[in-house]
Amino acid sequence: MAKAPERIVIAIDGPAASGKSSTAQWVAKRLGFNHVDSGALYRAITAAAVRRSADADRWDDAFVLAGGKSIGLEPDGHSFAPTIDSKRVDEQIRGPEVTKHVSRVARMKPVREWVNQQVRAAAASFDIVVDGRDMGTAVFPDAQLKIFLVADPWERARRRLLQQLGRSPTDDEIAEETQRLVHRDAGDATQTVQAPDAVLIDTTYLTQEEQVERIVALARAVDHRDEF
Ligand code: DC
Repeated sequence: MAKAPERIVIAIDGPAASGKSSTAQWVAKRLGFNHVDSGALYRAITAAAVRRSADADRWDDAFVLAGGKSIGLEPDGHSFAPTIDSKRVDEQIRGPEVTKHVSRVARMKPVREWVNQQVRAAAASFDIVVDGRDMGTAVFPDAQLKIFLVADPWERARRRLLQQLGRSPTDDEIAEETQRLVHRDAGDATQTVQAPDAVLIDTTYLTQEEQVERIVALARAVDHRDEF
């Protein structure tokens, strides 16, 4: 019997607002792979906790984890979007309430195990591009390609605000956002790990298209299947 073709996993990790998810989505589209955003799952389980109790001081591991039962992943083009009670929650998971609590939720060990299970299940039958903080270390240590995306915090803040505001931000706005970002980086530091065999890409002076081209070229270099 012919051996089933090997599944390819491309793991893209890096700090907040380094452009991981949008880059991962674009790379997946270029290669005909699927994209899984692990951060969106941390955000969805946080959103489920917010719905059930606004008093975040009383959330413990078991309470947060129980919300996982209401969460699904719905196919959306080349990607998957999280749902709560079968309804899309795209805007809610990016909102300030979820962003405020998600770092703490992401430090809960059982929550990390739950997210890792969801990501592995989504990856089981597809070639995937997966993005997060520890995809190339804890979740897919055997990924054929690992990328660690970084960029200067000021530039990450500028890009994030440009996207949010739809105009060029002022230096004062960028300075404030830079502070928020470095605090988030500190909150996520223990989870954000560069695999020793990851390719480091500093995107400070790259366009998104250039980042995507580099990763696509790296993917072609590691994929030796005929049909690719
Ligand atoms: O990338 P993001 O901002 O959507 O991630 C949301 C939160 O989840 C952030 O606090 C980091 C955390 N996270 C994590 O700890 N591990 C991952 N693999 C992905 C995200």
